[in-house]
Amino acid sequence: MLNFDVQNQAYLAQVEKYLDSECFQYSDEPQKELFDAMRYSLLAGGKRLRPIFVLDFCRMCGGDWQKALPFAAAVEMVHTYSLIHDDLPCMDNDDYRRGKPTNHKVYGEATAVLAGDALLTAAFAYIAKAPYSAETRIRAVEILSDCAGELGMVGGQVLDMRSEDRQCTKQEVLDIQSRKTGALIRAACLLGVLAADGGSEQLLAAKGFADNLGLAFQIRDDILDIIGDAKKLGKAVGVDATKNTFVQLYGLETCDKMVREHTDKALEYLSAFENADYMKHLASLLTSRTV
Ligand code: IPE
Ligand code: IPE
Ligand code: MG
Ligand code: MG
Ligand code: MG
Repeated sequence: MLNFDVQNQAYLAQVEKYLDSECFQYSDEPQKELFDAMRYSLLAGGKRLRPIFVLDFCRMCGGDWQKALPFAAAVEMVHTYSLIHDDLPCMDNDDYRRGKPTNHKVYGEATAVLAGDALLTAAFAYIAKAPYSAETRIRAVEILSDCAGELGMVGGQVLDMRSEDRQCTKQEVLDIQSRKTGALIRAACLLGVLAADGGSEQLLAAKGFADNLGLAFQIRDDILDIIGDAKKLGKAVGVDATKNTFVQLYGLETCDKMVREHTDKALEYLSAFENADYMKHLASLLTSRTV
């Protein structure tokens, strides 16, 4: 059996190393401010959950997880761009992210928007250059663009903004959360299976896992907006009072139960994989995460 801490450290170390050494270091290009802004947010820490999902789904499907690092980095780039834009004054207007001032606070709004644009664009270049067949890379582009774009994360962000200051139904909140947060988690899990050349059954199970885990993850995020510690979280709390979340609909206690129920559902899908102990443990830890 894998030792959870050893495997976790291996994933984190490789992801950090890859992002730091393989991304956006150019010595002979004049737009240094842009590269600095991109690296500022990309290397600001963060839990690296989405890259870990890529790598561990690859490992669970029998693939070489180190080979999947370009896919893992691509998802983290899209995630980081989504955070930079999410924090802008025209969106959530946050000053603090990953324990540091937000990108626009340091580089200004225009550069922050462009750093996000460049991270999103670069993500697809990393997929294009990954060490897989053309067919696998094209399928990866399709998955990531579907999950990140107008039907996925960006679509969810629009629904999230449109839901402010009015009461949403349960279905509307589900629609928001499955898109704004669930979709990128789904992309990560699917890319991991794809990197290992997993079959359609494993792709379906990865989707089932991700959809439930994504929901549990965002509900926990909304709980932490109320009970969390800003210093620990690295971002402000108490900022979602006008947003439509399950916490607004049902309160903290019910939401805590929902996090556990959706995580349990997610865990059921892991029976499609051998050696799922690491992912089972990670998913369980996330139910009571404080960061
Ligand atoms: C924050 O994601 C945004 C949500 C989708 C809730 P994470 O909580 O994974 O943020 P980092 O990557 O650890 O900073
Ligand atoms: C963020 O949701 C979702 C995306 C960035 C796509 P939130 O707005 O709740 O995330 P935090 O709380 O700012 O991290
Ligand atoms: Mg937001
Ligand atoms: Mg936000
Ligand atoms: Mg939040």
